Amino acid sequence: MADNPAYQVLARKYRPQTFKDLIGQDAMVRVLKNAFAADRIAQAFIMTGIRGTGKTTTARIIAKGMNCVGPDGNGGPTVEPCGVCEPCRAIAEGRHVDVMEMDGASQTGVNDIRDNIISTVSYAPASARYKIYIIDEVHMLSTSAFNALLKTLEEPPAHVKFIFATTEIRKVPVTVLSRCQRFDLRRIEPEVMMTHLADIAGREGAEVGQDALALIARASEGSVRDAQSLLDQAIAHGQGETTADQVRAMLGLADRGRVLDLFDMVMKGDAAGALAEIAGQYADGADPMAVLRDLAEVTHWISVVKITPEAVEDPTVGPDERERGRDMAERLPMRALTRMWQMLLKALEEVAAAPNAMMAAEMAIIRLTHVAELPSPGDLVRKLKDGPPAGVSASPAPGPGGGGGGGTVARGPVAHHGAATAVARQPDDALARYQRFDQVVELIRANRDAKLLIDVETGVRLVNYAPGRIEFAPSDAAPRDLAARLGAALQRWTGVRWGVSVVADGGAPTIAETRDAEAEALRSKALAHPMMQAVLEAFPDARIVGIRTPEQIAAEAQVEALPEVDEEWDPFADDD
Ligand SMILES: Nc1ncnc2c1ncn2[C@@H]1O[C@H](COP(=O)(O)OP(=O)(O)O)[C@@H](O)[C@H]1O
Ligand SMILES: [Mg+2]
Ligand SMILES: [Zn+2]
Repeated sequence: MADNPAYQVLARKYRPQTFKDLIGQDAMVRVLKNAFAADRIAQAFIMTGIRGTGKTTTARIIAKGMNCVGPDGNGGPTVEPCGVCEPCRAIAEGRHVDVMEMDGASQTGVNDIRDNIISTVSYAPASARYKIYIIDEVHMLSTSAFNALLKTLEEPPAHVKFIFATTEIRKVPVTVLSRCQRFDLRRIEPEVMMTHLADIAGREGAEVGQDALALIARASEGSVRDAQSLLDQAIAHGQGETTADQVRAMLGLADRGRVLDLFDMVMKGDAAGALAEIAGQYADGADPMAVLRDLAEVTHWISVVKITPEAVEDPTVGPDERERGRDMAERLPMRALTRMWQMLLKALEEVAAAPNAMMAAEMAIIRLTHVAELPSPGDLVRKLKDGPPAGVSASPAPGPGGGGGGGTVARGPVAHHGAATAVARQPDDALARYQRFDQVVELIRANRDAKLLIDVETGVRLVNYAPGRIEFAPSDAAPRDLAARLGAALQRWTGVRWGVSVVADGGAPTIAETRDAEAEALRSKALAHPMMQAVLEAFPDARIVGIRTPEQIAAEAQVEALPEVDEEWDPFADDD
């Protein structure tokens, strides 16, 4: 580029001179047209919108329109400036004496406003119809500058117009806003952007593939200026035709197909495959952050497609990918998608903070494959029939929160979580998973009946237990109706009758007593530890405030590694 003196960046070369060339801002243009037609041109305008959507461009077109005199020198204000009259040409070239352009970012002080605006407004325009002040990035003005400006805005001479532009409308004082007609410039839709880019590429005599344009359109996030700069670079990179691969490399993006591959592996719980894939992408130059961001983008896209299937027709997505997206949207439950999204956001934070981004990304991927693994209801029943998965305690696994396929689920040894519905089943089946009394206690816990749980833990001295039959001696803490309540609750949750009877005395210690005894034993054991004795000797006033066993610490570490899991969602979660 540098060796071509006539070269002009595309963004400058293709600045629209009229509203016909301005893309994606139809609503604003319509309002302006009506206002000009009705001769109700506001005293002050403010344009807001993200970078490169046409704010400065619009300001200049309006300025031209206000001062255009037409090719014959007799025209009035118009939204279609002729572009050939002297005012039009002077404004386009930035040399019109009555059109002042200020940059709020560099001229922020009250003196700038005083010198450039306040001291000159009262003079009539030198040659044009209106004196026009354009202030770009107006939100950058200091408070005193705003105050100075406000006085003029309140009572501007009839020959004066203001046009402000800002990317941060919230930083503009309401007092200023309330005196302006406001226009919100929109991000440009991908379709519109792609057509525009194709048009420029054509005029530049450059061959740029449709999917390459799609990638640029997507990367620009709706900013025409960004899209044009990217196109500029892409053309410079590309020899002959610019392909999607080149643009992808230029943008540091992974191949969309590969992102979908990775996403698929993660969702299937294939940790080894996912690690190999991310390593491959890394070797090909992908940034770990970018990979996770891609995954987040895919997660979002598939979620949207799930809700509005038309969204799959995104022009920036290739046909194969659309097909895959559609398929995944049908297959994956929304719970898994929202979960994935949440975890990716967390992972992005971690990767950003980690000393080694790739390591952090790999750890995140491993975690994602574990938690994102979502067996289908059929798989789940099969797994549960084959016994609880390794690493899960012998306590009964709560069933999936109402996963589909009611018939199959009801036959399997699956209890429903929460307000468990009593599904009619064979009594033997229903009782098979309550071989021990502690499994009954787990069931109470799973159903979140805290009162019953406490009463059972403190009140029941177990005398005899068989699935479906409980015999106990009440402790002093046991309420009188405990047997009746326990029987009714178990019947409600399991769908079969339980016989719960009370005997006068005997029985094992209550659960609470056992627990206290265990805690006491643990305490003595801790106290007997040489390290503890040394500590107590050195710090005689020290007290034991908590004891954690290595198992507890390991369990806690595991819980921390996984952000809290929606109980409805995780089919193997331990209770509470
Ligand atoms: N709506 C648009 N239609 C066509 N080109 C645009 C549009 N918005 C921005 N551009 C392109 O981007 C460049 C910068 O636009 P500009 O109006 O200065 O953006 P900003 O909104 O940041 O003020 C223009 O020269 C033009 O090439
Ligand atoms: Mg601008
Ligand atoms: Zn003109």
